[in-house]
Amino acid sequence: MQAVYFSAWSLTGIRGGHTDGQITLVRCGPARSLPLESFPAYNAPMIIRKEEPSDRAAVHAVVRAAFGRTSEAMLVDRLRADGDSVVSLVAVDDASVVGHVMLSKMKASFQALGLAPVSVHPDRQKYGVGTSLVLEALTQARQGRFEAVFVLGDPLFYGRFGFRSEPASGFTSPYAGPHFMVLPLKSALAATTGTIDYASAFAALE
Ligand SMILES: CC(C)(COP(=O)(O)OP(=O)(O)OC[C@H]1O[C@@H](n2cnc3c(N)ncnc32)[C@H](O)[C@@H]1OP(=O)(O)O)[C@@H](O)C(=O)NCCC(=O)NCCS
Repeated sequence: MQAVYFSAWSLTGIRGGHTDGQITLVRCGPARSLPLESFPAYNAPMIIRKEEPSDRAAVHAVVRAAFGRTSEAMLVDRLRADGDSVVSLVAVDDASVVGHVMLSKMKASFQALGLAPVSVHPDRQKYGVGTSLVLEALTQARQGRFEAVFVLGDPLFYGRFGFRSEPASGFTSPYAGPHFMVLPLKSALAATTGTIDYASAFAALE
């Protein structure tokens, strides 16, 4: 199984190398000017790997904790059950699942994925876990046949990965607006207009 080891301390200083088919990323120290004592003493490496069936209960718990309600955790369960989940990754710290990301099939005229939800346990937020999960999910999306990833979220967070609202603005979508963004995975989008929607499970989300 391929796993990605990464720094839970730095958003900007992650360094990596390949060993035995694995990507190993080493800690580079905190990226922000926070006092050292405010960082938990993580000594075990954190890894990002594909979700396994045995992770499902822990994923449900992490998503529920991140959002403070069960709706998004049920969404993940339903996307998986419907066969719409394409990429599902977990961040594991000292054998505990502390984060999760899912990419699911979208209804579109071209091969598009929806990035949602992204979840990091409240105790582990702001240490780069969410960024690392998104980066690895996008890496996996690029390795497939997919042409674009859409997301509905805060441009400040998702803009750092290259998501933009302007190229998504021509699509007819229940989520259209400044928070609806797209990241082309090829040189250009196969279409810039038309109807696009998330997988059916999203319709049940409040
Ligand atoms: C959003 C979330 C996944 C980010 O994970 P994280 O591990 O805390 O993120 P990182 O440490 O990699 O990145 C933190 C950066 O993202 C920013 N950020 C975090 N959540 C954000 C949000 N909802 N909107 C905008 N920016 C956000 C932080 O301000 C921080 O910015 P900085 O690097 O300039 O200081 C996590 O906060 C979470 O699970 N939130 C609850 C669920 C949620 O809202 N998910 C996203 C919608 S699907």
